[in-house]
Amino acid sequence: MYLHGTSKINAKGHLEIGGCDTVELKQQFGTPLYIVDEALVRQRCREYMDAFRASGLSFQVAYASKAFCVMAMCRLAEEEGLSLDVVSEGELFTALQAGFPAQRIHFHGNNKTLDELEMAMSAGIGCFVADNFTELHMLQALAAEKGTKVNVLLRVTPGVEAHTHEYISTGQTDSKFGFDIGNGSASEAVELASRSLNLNLLGVHSHIGSQIFETEGFQLAVERVAAFAMQVKEKLNVVFKVVNLGGGFGIRYTEEDTPLKVADYVRAITDAVKEHFSDYPELPEIWVEPGRSIVGDAGTTLYTVGTSKDIPGVRKYVAVDGGMTDNPRPALYDSKYEAMLANRAHDENEETVSIAGKCCESGDMLIWDVELPKVNSGDLLAVACTGAYNYAMASNYNRIRRPAVVFAQDGHSDLVVKRESLQDLIACDVIPERISKQPSLK
Ligand code: LLP
Repeated sequence: MYLHGTSKINAKGHLEIGGCDTVELKQQFGTPLYIVDEALVRQRCREYMDAFRASGLSFQVAYASKAFCVMAMCRLAEEEGLSLDVVSEGELFTALQAGFPAQRIHFHGNNKTLDELEMAMSAGIGCFVADNFTELHMLQALAAEKGTKVNVLLRVTPGVEAHTHEYISTGQTDSKFGFDIGNGSASEAVELASRSLNLNLLGVHSHIGSQIFETEGFQLAVERVAAFAMQVKEKLNVVFKVVNLGGGFGIRYTEEDTPLKVADYVRAITDAVKEHFSDYPELPEIWVEPGRSIVGDAGTTLYTVGTSKDIPGVRKYVAVDGGMTDNPRPALYDSKYEAMLANRAHDENEETVSIAGKCCESGDMLIWDVELPKVNSGDLLAVACTGAYNYAMASNYNRIRRPAVVFAQDGHSDLVVKRESLQDLIACDVIPERISKQPSLK
């Protein structure tokens, strides 16, 4: 398993993260356990901030909280000077409760409800990323009712869609998100928003995909957005102050993945902006929204090995005490992960096994075919690169309790999310009056 950030093998042959021995973390917090390498998260935040500073452009780096949204993470992003992208009342509430400054929060989503818009407007968030005409009308009406003016970016689809290695230049029209540049609806939205008394149109937003390894897609998006900006300036005399290029910067899950350094992605984008906006009245402020590349490789999930099943000549299944409930990505996207025995890190690999979860479903597999030392019940299995879209997408399927999350740094480990209790699982359950609450006598 590739050792990210501060992860290393200590003298006892144990995996250590943030100076904390994972065997001790298991004793203290139990398993499954998400461990976040705090120093690595901070390093990634700084890589973005430093790279943008070096570009000389005005900028905001908004952490896409959907990747991992808990109060401690919002605080950390705030401390590092990042802005925050939220997509629901839940993410917004989490950020506000964590004391994240509303002015640095951007609100995304293709179906924000009136209640959500009202909550965000009352909180005084920095920007609404309007996705469609219904939302624009709702925002205008709500802001007028409140006698206020709100900042708006328009999400546009530039006709670039990235599938990690491939960029499809058509087809993006068929997306649930945003105003299409190609069919004229983006231009219509600019006209509407710029004329509104209660909307302050800052500019446009484009997001081309996720887990992208190359720069071409971003550069193409900048080119398309710049062409659109010029067109809108000519036609409507509207000048964009902000261009938001979304997130999507890739990370290394396995050796198959070949991401660039954060600084290289940022330089490609900022250079493209300088090139394609050179004839624009002023270079726009550039915003980006990295999620995965801030927290992804800083996360490790620790499991305890339970049962195993050897099918001679076929494969050996090794089951851990978590699974698709804490990491649905292999089942959903066929995602690949690397793993190691955290309590016997020096032992030689001896067998190829497949790691199964404990859910009642055959598809509940975490890793197919991983090389490990001879695995015994009670061993600790660490799966790397689980910081993004794992806790965020965790479920209570089979009424399995969601794991705890710990931040580890410099030998300190602090709980940032408690393990759910059995009581938590039934906290929202109600037995209606007409259903008897006592065991039946029949
Ligand atoms: N901005 C917008 C508008 C987005 O839709 C997304 C991700 C991001 C930023 C952050 O993208 P990132 O830097 O994290 O790639 N659940 C999937 C990923 C879904 C991403 C959705 N949008 C997964 O587990 O791979």
